[in-house]
Amino acid sequence: MIVRLSNGKEIPMEMHKVRIVQKTSLVPIDQRLKAIEEGGYNTFSLRTRDIFLDMLTDSGTNAMSDNQLAAMMVSDDAYAGCESFYKLASAIKDVLGFEYVLPVHQGRAAEHLIAKVFVKPGDVIPMNYHFTTTKAHFELAGGTVLEIYRDEALNTKSTDLFKGNLDPQKFKDAIKKYGADKISFVRMEATANLIGGQPFSMENLKEVKKIASENKIFLVYDGSLISENAYFIKQREKGYENKSIQEIIWEMMSVVDIFYLSGRKSTCVRGGFIATNNKEYYELLKPWLPVYEGFLTYGGMSTKEIEAMAVGLREMTDTNVAGSAAEFVKYFVGRLIESKIPVVTPAGGLACHVDAKLFLPHLPQSQYPAGALAAAIYITSGVRSMERGTISMDRDEDGNEVYSDLELARLAIPRRVYTMSHIEYVVDRLNWLYKHRDLVGGLKFVEEPPVLRFFFGKLAPLGNWETKLADVFKKEFGASY
Ligand code: F0G
Repeated sequence: MIVRLSNGKEIPMEMHKVRIVQKTSLVPIDQRLKAIEEGGYNTFSLRTRDIFLDMLTDSGTNAMSDNQLAAMMVSDDAYAGCESFYKLASAIKDVLGFEYVLPVHQGRAAEHLIAKVFVKPGDVIPMNYHFTTTKAHFELAGGTVLEIYRDEALNTKSTDLFKGNLDPQKFKDAIKKYGADKISFVRMEATANLIGGQPFSMENLKEVKKIASENKIFLVYDGSLISENAYFIKQREKGYENKSIQEIIWEMMSVVDIFYLSGRKSTCVRGGFIATNNKEYYELLKPWLPVYEGFLTYGGMSTKEIEAMAVGLREMTDTNVAGSAAEFVKYFVGRLIESKIPVVTPAGGLACHVDAKLFLPHLPQSQYPAGALAAAIYITSGVRSMERGTISMDRDEDGNEVYSDLELARLAIPRRVYTMSHIEYVVDRLNWLYKHRDLVGGLKFVEEPPVLRFFFGKLAPLGNWETKLADVFKKEFGASY
């Protein structure tokens, strides 16, 4: 919820009380230097003990509600026929309107099953934007991901409120070019993650569905950030300001053929599912569930998480819950804009994204500016962000580097976890780093895995810029920060 103070300033207000906490510590800069070096300049390799604020992701790191925790205590562990599953199925029916449910251990498992059943070698899969795991699974099944966003989607200094829209004309052109029978389905990702958590509009979703139906193509909806997309529709799209999040979700779902999500985001649990009203699709997917995930009534999830997901699904339809991260992201982005730090605008759904190409214009993409920025942010603040740029792309079949459209350092806001003073601290350290940005150098790979290399890749700095940066920091703040 946004609260206007008596001086006119608007701030995001936490509409919850903190009743369980996790201790965190800020280790001194020399320890951070050691940790990032040992971790191969990859923030994925850092350990919690060396991290002050963990903004790597909002995936599985959100604060659960008291009701979610309570629900976990009454879960039914039956391998088959578990009652917890039926509670989840009933929440899915109520909140999303789907009859058939396939639980999976997390979002990428849903992508795996959908790819296995529906993506044939040589197929094309149009979408508003890819996600790393989506692309990996669809390509492993022999398909090609076709991103058909509008040019504005990649403009990091935009005022376009729906940068996650799929370009309808490009969709029509693709159908003409490849033929509808070569298109597995069209995929819409709610608040497109890799371009900065940018939503699509209801109007766009319906237009995409219309084109798809006319050509007998079905629509797959990645709802990992569904409540945030609904929140943005309420905030930004004409005619929706007085609709509830639940009404907006129902309206979106009315055009969806297959829904899946990573439950680790909007629903604040660790799990996922596929849901549909189409029995035929369900029957095609179902046999593979016990092969790869688990029996139909748990699908690889802990039954405790299934219970918590049933509650989380209902809770995400509360406007204050749906907007909890989005409003903090907006505040965070606004504070950085005040200092002219290049960030993706408009503020998106899951994180504040710093534009590393603009922050570090002296670094070519071949030196991984987003990775270098993530390392520099950690060194100077203890804050863990995530590289979302060229390191997050894998090489092509011939081993050539594939440069990412955008080079972003993503500072995610896990829902209900961090406070205003945490945000102010990050803003301050980013300001400091921006003033000293010339000190930040590039990175090179020293160990490079063949697929999703960003997870386990090891890199090294080009030159010893990290020590120089730390020395300047210590001169100003001392060695204990
Ligand atoms: N789809 C979207 C839009 C996602 O953001 C993610 C995960 C997935 C699918 C895969 O789900 O992790 O449960 O297997 N996003 C996380 C992130 C990893 O950090 O943004 P998963």
